[in-house]
Amino acid sequence: MNNVNEQQGTDSLTRLVLRQPDDWHVHFRDDAMLAFAAPYTARQFARAIVMPNLVPPVTTVAAGEAYRNRIMAALPEGSAFTPLMTAYLTDEIDPNEIETGFKNGVFTACKLYPAGATTNSASGVTDVRKIWPVLERMQDIGMLLLVHGEVVSPDIDIFDREAVFLERVLGPVLNDFPALKVVLEHITTEDSVQFVEAAGPNLGATITAHHLRIDRNAMFQGGLRPHAYCLPVAKRRRHREALRKAATSGHPRYFLGTDSAPHPKHEKESACGCAGIFSAPVALESYAQTFEEEGALDRLEAFASEFGPRFYGLPLNEGTVTLNRQPQELPELMGSEEIPVVPFHAGETLSWRFAG
Ligand code: NCD
Ligand code: ZN
Ligand code: ZN
Repeated sequence: MNNVNEQQGTDSLTRLVLRQPDDWHVHFRDDAMLAFAAPYTARQFARAIVMPNLVPPVTTVAAGEAYRNRIMAALPEGSAFTPLMTAYLTDEIDPNEIETGFKNGVFTACKLYPAGATTNSASGVTDVRKIWPVLERMQDIGMLLLVHGEVVSPDIDIFDREAVFLERVLGPVLNDFPALKVVLEHITTEDSVQFVEAAGPNLGATITAHHLRIDRNAMFQGGLRPHAYCLPVAKRRRHREALRKAATSGHPRYFLGTDSAPHPKHEKESACGCAGIFSAPVALESYAQTFEEEGALDRLEAFASEFGPRFYGLPLNEGTVTLNRQPQELPELMGSEEIPVVPFHAGETLSWRFAG
């Protein structure tokens, strides 16, 4: 859509109308947290790829179907939102179960968590070679693989885990399964940007709103800041700059995936705090702010609403959403007394406001 007056830049722009976007990576959780979190995503996005890292994880067709029903039950009656479900890969996963779920329209993709890499990944894959048979099946049936791209070896520095994953795990997977479509989720490094650009058409990547805005210093600003802690952990400033360039470049293999990952406040503010940033309430506003700072508001729509569905082979959404230029202050705390949640941008003022 042509929202940007090329002569004047975007300062005078007061309204931004976009084709309705999708979120290609989100965590909804379950129970009370699901009831709290899911409506924020459903308000801004038509569809979302829902992560399967529940306890226990979503590893069967029945579990995927039941979770999808719980998500719809958490949304207002008649909601047009579509959750796209994913299967959690384990060492023992049965390729037949995956194929059945894909063919029945329950599973859109499979998610690879290296065991121990992140929140609720204990049942993940201990050695990627163990899932070669399921990758082969996925390649045959045209099902996407989504990856949390970090190695877990304790001898690898946490800031290097993504870069080492590219070489040790992702390279061999792409090499052995050239027709498999793979999404490298929530990229955080210049190394990943270079890797994606050098790869063929079957590798895409999601970029979160928060990795475009924070670097590793955010975790140590005047003290320890658990609400800036997520995985993969934010890296040096130059990596954030590479991500901002990539997201706003118009390259069709980068697309929106918030990785909105709510945890109760006390579980983040703890001696062993959880990783995850809850960005769903202002996801689009946050991306819009970054794109505007980069002088690329005219490229937001493609990143948010076109490149994702094209990569997934799904139709583009028909409807539109509107953002108004209207200052919006984020509360310090959201949720309820039982599950207080600190949102991304807490206490800050954003320049755009989602209007529906
Ligand atoms: C996610 C979570 O909390 O489930 N956390 C995070 O920091 N991103 C897991 C993940 O996406 O790795
Ligand atoms: Zn992850
Ligand atoms: Zn995630």
